[in-house]
Formats: sequence, C-alpha cells, structure tokens
Amino acid sequence: MYSEKVMDHFSNPRNVGEIEDANGVGQVGNPKCGDIMKMYLKIEDNIVVDAKFKTFGCGAAVATSSMATELVKGKTVEEAMKITNKAVAEALDGLPPAKMHCSNLAEEAIAAALYDYRKRNGLVDPNEAQDCTGECSACHHSHGREEDFEDE
Ligand code: FES
Repeated sequence: MYSEKVMDHFSNPRNVGEIEDANGVGQVGNPKCGDIMKMYLKIEDNIVVDAKFKTFGCGAAVATSSMATELVKGKTVEEAMKITNKAVAEALDGLPPAKMHCSNLAEEAIAAALYDYRKRNGLVDPNEAQDCTGECSACHHSHGREEDFEDE
C-alpha cells in the first residue's frame, strides 16, 4: 500500500524537533482527522537554511512532514511558497488516494511558517493580510487544493 520511501520517512523521519531561534513557525490542523503539524523554519538571506517539524498524526502525515522539511531546505522563500502537497507526495513516490489529504498538512504547515516569517518581516501584502491569518488549516491562500479534501 505504501511506497518504500513513505515507509522509510515514517520509520526514520528526518528533521524531527524544534528550532529554538526559528523565524518562521506555523501550526496547522487537518480538518479531516484532527491531526496536527508544527513546522519551524530558519530563514537567512531569503533562503530556508533549516527546517524541523513536530507532527501528531498518522504515518502518512509523519512521512510527508519529513519529506517536506527535506524539500524546503535550501529553497528561497518564493520557491518554498510553491511547494505543493502533490510535490511532497510525488517525492515520496506517491501516497494511496485515501491518504492524499494527509499531505495537505505538510503544504499548509510550510505555508503557515512562511507566512509567519513574512509577517514578522513586513513582507505580507496588506490585501493578502486582510483575508489570511496564515493560521487557518482551511486556508488555501497559496494554492488551490480543495479537491484533495474530497479524496475519501
Ligand atoms: Fe490525519 Fe493522515 S489521517 S493526517
């Protein structure tokens, strides 16, 4: 059912923990199952130099968090904002359709952490700020992905 990469990142997740001096932190919850992911980013000169996570969730959520931290490291803020749940799932050689919603958590946690960084640094467009707090798990401000919630 799960790819080898999913099993590997679930059994041996990379980058678990906290970054004490993180300058972008985001926490999101999955409305489908109640699982929670917290993402810590350290950004220097517009580059994500470190990423760590804590996830209280299913195996697919742990594996996608792990892969998401690997993907986000070394990216510019703009590149990191474009990481989608599908890209995370593809990097894991796919997820079963019923577990695709778990990857939303990774995408949204990255988006929320980047939003926090941009907010702290005055980089959020005022129009965007009006309707987006970056803290809402149903927030689709960076990508359209409502269809992923309908997989099950
Ligand atoms: Fe909740 Fe996977 S079942 S994130």
